[in-house]
Amino acid sequence: MEIIIFDTQQQLDAYAAELIVNTVNQKPNAVLGLATGSTPIGIYDKMVELYNQKKVSFSSVTTFNLDEYVGLPPQNDQSYAYYMNKHLFSHIDIPEDRTHLPNGMADDIDAECIRYDAMLEAQPVDIQLLGLGHNGHIGFNEPDVNLSGGTHAVKLKDETREANARFFASMDEVPTYAVTMGVGSILKADTIVLAVRGADKAEIVKEALTGPITTSVPASLLQTHARVIVLLDREAGRML
Ligand code: GLP
Repeated sequence: MEIIIFDTQQQLDAYAAELIVNTVNQKPNAVLGLATGSTPIGIYDKMVELYNQKKVSFSSVTTFNLDEYVGLPPQNDQSYAYYMNKHLFSHIDIPEDRTHLPNGMADDIDAECIRYDAMLEAQPVDIQLLGLGHNGHIGFNEPDVNLSGGTHAVKLKDETREANARFFASMDEVPTYAVTMGVGSILKADTIVLAVRGADKAEIVKEALTGPITTSVPASLLQTHARVIVLLDREAGRML
């Protein structure tokens, strides 16, 4: 596991964006695994900047997002589909039919999970961007005795709903369920880039990267992967 600690957020964003852009330049039909939350926003801004400078084209790239809320349509400004269009897809040349998120509006969520896994199986992820939840979740894989390998529906923990409530008008509007890629699918990516910032994540960063490998800290399973690049700001890395 390679761990890089940056002095500034801008440096972290630029480094992560370059890792992704370099992957695409080496392999124009690369498959990117993408994440949401506040951490990737600056990374996507930088990718758009590099695209505008004609340093990359995403026209043959395919993307898979980690997760989506159940019950929020793509037009809802808190859905992850809306987020991805706002921060990345609408600014670059990626064809819409090459961008994939789990459909949290599917009538049959189990069938949707099977459909998503089949697509991931056919198009393995070259580089997966990940953020980290305060309780060690990745995607929406919450701490539990058992974790799922494939895409599945999850009931969000109260702490996760509270952490994400800042994006919603009120706590009542925060969805209770989500669909997420499983830890098994995440670990199939060739390269994983875990980006974390902020003092409030320092403790979970230490636990996930240096503590025991346990399903009670889903991100600790990243220790089993051969190629993980961890990008931290000073605050998030201060306990290492
Ligand atoms: C959500 C997402 C995760 C993300 C996490 C941390 O729960 N499902 O994929 O990593 O938030 O988000 P932030 O970067 O805003 O702290």
